[in-house]
Amino acid sequence: AAERLTDRFGRGIDYLRLSVTDRCDLRCAYCRPPGRTDYHEPADWLGFGELERIVAAFARLGVRRVRLTGGEPLLRRDLPRLAERLAALPGIGDLSLSTNAIRLAPMAARLREAGVGRVNISLDTLEPGRYREVTGGGDLARVLAGIEAARTAGMAPIRINTVVMRGVNDGEIPSLVAYCMERNLTLRLIETMPVGDGGRAAAGRFLALDTVRRRILGHLPLVPDIAPGGGPARYYRIDGTDARIGFITPLSQHFCATCNRVRLDVTGNLLLCLGQEHSYPLGRLLRAGVSDAGLEEALRAAMALKPERHEFREQPAKVLRRMSMTGG
Ligand code: GTP
Ligand code: 5AD
Ligand code: SF4
Repeated sequence: AAERLTDRFGRGIDYLRLSVTDRCDLRCAYCRPPGRTDYHEPADWLGFGELERIVAAFARLGVRRVRLTGGEPLLRRDLPRLAERLAALPGIGDLSLSTNAIRLAPMAARLREAGVGRVNISLDTLEPGRYREVTGGGDLARVLAGIEAARTAGMAPIRINTVVMRGVNDGEIPSLVAYCMERNLTLRLIETMPVGDGGRAAAGRFLALDTVRRRILGHLPLVPDIAPGGGPARYYRIDGTDARIGFITPLSQHFCATCNRVRLDVTGNLLLCLGQEHSYPLGRLLRAGVSDAGLEEALRAAMALKPERHEFREQPAKVLRRMSMTGG
């Protein structure tokens, strides 16, 4: 078998985040995507065949996990068909989705059948009015219906992503915990990251999560828990239940030393770090007619560009691209 992908710091890369659109039907305060949701797909977006070829090359080099992201991935035309093709690739053992769930309810069963085993859902508040404000007009009821549909479809685990914003939703953490506990969902509290204009605007609402964690620990019996497969969250299980709480703390306690991932934007630019601009133009290479062997060579070469860590604290203004280019 081919040698696995490793970067200059000895980190094995086995996780690919695939952004299938940079558009979104919401406009979250900390993200603020460009706003088109129409059907037209620009010529520089990679097609399903191209995405499949890239993912297959990653899989030959040891990537086992693929996450579909956006923007909002459910806006990509025929997404279940893409999921089916990626899930069928030899080596891909975990196909997951990060979504705002606005359009999930009618699609959940079809996606599950297509091989999407688990889903992470953005949900910052359980108050309909606040949800509308935070997301620029989103309808909370649709999201809650999407969550129920994912449960019915048998997606597991279902993780709820909550970006904690001081003075906006930090008072709602107990109700979010209760909502997730009742449904055996994993609640993940996330620190805002200064990526793009939206992310930097939200920096004024930043709240370090160690205080939040201490507050929760005072009320609930949390037992440290290992999440299989790495990833940025540190998890606890609520003793006596199957519910979990995860903390994603890129600023107060970063996890770059165990980073296992790279990202592909919708035009095929490979981004080596969420918090840096280093990239490798795989899309261009593909359209120039690169062979499969050449593609694998390019992936190895790209790994040498992966930086050691983000610099959100030292240089918060550094990452100019929007969060919606990579979907987190
Ligand atoms: P799993 O662990 O596979 O369930 O997913 P995930 O947590 O990696 O993905 P998800 O799309 O749900 O992202 C949750 C949050 O983690 C988002 O705010 C992402 O921006 C953030 N995140 C994911 N990967 C990284 C990373 O490599 N670096 C940083 N700084 N943040 C990340
Ligand atoms: N900081 C932290 N998390 C963010 N997300 C989007 N923008 C930011 C940001 N600036 C999160 C969303 C979504 C996940 C994929 O990325 O909440 O759940
Ligand atoms: Fe859309 Fe996700 Fe950005 Fe919210 S965070 S605007 S749901 S891409």
